[in-house]
Amino acid sequence: MNPNRKPIVAGNWKMNNTVAEALTLVTEIKRQAAEGKGVEIVLCPPFTALQAVSNAISGTAIGLGAQNMHWEKSGAFTGEVSATMLRELYCHYVIIGHSERRTLFGETDEAVNRKIKTALASNLHPIVCVGETLQQRQANQTEAIIRAQVLNGLKDIAADQFANIIMAYEPVWAIGTGMTATPGQAQDVHRFIRGLLQELADEKIAQTVRIQYGGSIKPANAKELFHQSDIDGGLIGGAALDAVAFMAIVNAAL
Ligand code: 13P
Repeated sequence: MNPNRKPIVAGNWKMNNTVAEALTLVTEIKRQAAEGKGVEIVLCPPFTALQAVSNAISGTAIGLGAQNMHWEKSGAFTGEVSATMLRELYCHYVIIGHSERRTLFGETDEAVNRKIKTALASNLHPIVCVGETLQQRQANQTEAIIRAQVLNGLKDIAADQFANIIMAYEPVWAIGTGMTATPGQAQDVHRFIRGLLQELADEKIAQTVRIQYGGSIKPANAKELFHQSDIDGGLIGGAALDAVAFMAIVNAAL
């Protein structure tokens, strides 16, 4: 954590929560969120619950994010959702390039790059996910993989847009496995990502970008992770489905 960057904790609900379940969860988060001042909170429900959650958090400081979007404005893209559609629901964030999209749905760095550009052009803050698999880490390829994902993902994006981007380091081996990166392992990669941002822009700009850690964050390990100088919050999966656990993680970022 660095006092010059406001911590941001986002809940990625993935394919969980009907509208009714989403409303129960958001009501509880809202009740507890007053304690979380000083941390930006973002909820990323599935598309079907965006409208309901948007209404429920209206007038609060809680932000709304989607989990994906298409890069085109509109057209014959069955099953896809556009940036304009998200903005219409007062969505201000969108997760781009989550490892589940990359591995299960074939999302490439090129697609990630297009989506980031469209998101920025539509005044959406992309939460750009990068991360290596266990096999890649064991083969000492972590930096090469992250480097390719960051440089290709942010290709041709103007440096003055960087402040609108949130990066998320999510080691694939830590997602949903209970195997968290150690604070030191995470900090090393976060520092490396900030170095890449500096290469693409400059040091001043790189210092403004928030980099979240994601992968089995729980109330018990959040504080130590958030204590690292280049970790500016978290992208929470499983623990974000429980209001008490999620808010404990938010409070750990204070
Ligand atoms: P878990 O917190 O369930 O490991 O998921 C992390 C994640 O993928 C958030 O995007």
